[in-house]
Amino acid sequence: TVGSVSLLILAYLLGSIPTAVWIGKAFYGIDVREYGSGNAGATNTFRVLGKRAGIPVMLIDILKGFTATKLAVFVGVSVTGGPHSNLINYQLAMGMAAVMGHLFPVFAGFRGGKGIATLFGMVLAVNLNAALLCVIMFIAVLLITRYVSLSSITGGFTYLVGVSLIYNKNTNNMVVIFGMCICLLILVTHQKNIERLLKGTESKVNLFKRKDA
Ligand code: G3P
Repeated sequence: TVGSVSLLILAYLLGSIPTAVWIGKAFYGIDVREYGSGNAGATNTFRVLGKRAGIPVMLIDILKGFTATKLAVFVGVSVTGGPHSNLINYQLAMGMAAVMGHLFPVFAGFRGGKGIATLFGMVLAVNLNAALLCVIMFIAVLLITRYVSLSSITGGFTYLVGVSLIYNKNTNNMVVIFGMCICLLILVTHQKNIERLLKGTESKVNLFKRKDA
């Protein structure tokens, strides 16, 4: 268990790497949290600094969730010595620790992002089919509405529906419960976005055109 706790802390620290903040400060001399939506995530980095900063932030944030989740294979290994049957539960715990790090990063004053890219990395590590389904829905909603936030929310619910269908007759209820947690978490982190969406003031992305200064 000492090993497991250390691994959870490691996952949290990994998630805590404030990619958007560090890339913004290191290469552009600005804190992205002072601009745009004020969020320390890939979307706001795209919005404020463009794709040359946004793409690396997105990829690294996905990698944080993916790596933390994959590290779950080491949980409890020293104790049992063999492969464990409830690996998926460990994966979910490790992934969520990374997401918590991303939301409340110890390296950036606990003001982080909304966890979408990191959550996606975790889903990618756990269930490739569900991840692909989420991406398809995310892109579809983005192309139609140009709201990233709405696409993220749709992605979360797609995961829930996707895993509920995929794991239908399967034993692990944890995965479905986890899907519900993801949806709840996304709704909470996107509260301000939802308010703006309802008011019609949420910012849209320019997918094909250059942004006006
Ligand atoms: O991934 C976060 C996205 O869903 C919303 O970001 O900056 O528009 O609040 P933002």
